Amino acid sequence: MLVLQFVPQADLAVREMRRVTRPGGTVAAATWDTRGGFVALRMFYDAAAMLDQNGCRARAAAYTRPMSRPGDLASAWRDAGLADVVEDTLTIRMEFASFADFWAPSEGKEGPVAEYVGTLGADAKARLRDVVRLAYLDGEADGARSYAATAWVVKGRGRVQRIWVSGQKDFFGCVMVVGVREMAGHLMPGCGERAYCTQQSQADRPRRTIGFLTGYFARPT
Ligand SMILES: C[S@@+](CC[C@H](N)C(=O)[O-])C[C@H]1O[C@@H](n2cnc3c(N)ncnc32)[C@H](O)[C@@H]1O
Repeated sequence: MLVLQFVPQADLAVREMRRVTRPGGTVAAATWDTRGGFVALRMFYDAAAMLDQNGCRARAAAYTRPMSRPGDLASAWRDAGLADVVEDTLTIRMEFASFADFWAPSEGKEGPVAEYVGTLGADAKARLRDVVRLAYLDGEADGARSYAATAWVVKGRGRVQRIWVSGQKDFFGCVMVVGVREMAGHLMPGCGERAYCTQQSQADRPRRTIGFLTGYFARPT
């Protein structure tokens, strides 16, 4: 949740999310719509950009992150091979008790806003704080404010390929899959080698077959 924008190779992260999800399972994520849907952030960055070239660069970086623009998440989900991809938005309200409450995270340790403020000297920081405060107050007394914040949300399903296999179950319960070693390993994670070897040893010393195994099995593509 709200992390992919900060991950350097987000496309790899999405593929890994898909890989570790069971076949047919849902992969979902949310990222802030920083440019178009995050009022509190806009108040901060527009003030910073007006006062300082580095503030202008910080704003540009914040509003052009991967996975933050319309359609970005859906494209990444499709590129990762996910099916039935749906992108939408969710809006929450961010509630602040006072300007001090609003400003406090800017002087914290985490996130791009705090990082940028950390680069400012005392005077520049005070100037920025004063301008953001004017935007917060809007000519009224200090007090509670409520700002909308919208996130892009996306979901998609891992694809499923159904494969037909036929095999035999031996006396020891080991399945001799008629097929390649990789297929045997896929059907019985960790047992691919064993199933394959059993198939090999069958020629030298046949084992007693006690049952057949046939059917469709789902596997991720
Ligand atoms: C906006 S916060 C979201 C926190 C929490 N997931 C939530 O939904 O409330 C962004 C989070 O991304 C984490 N983060 C930043 N860069 C990251 C990276 N490269 N890999 C993993 N997490 C990262 C930060 O530590 C921070 O906790």
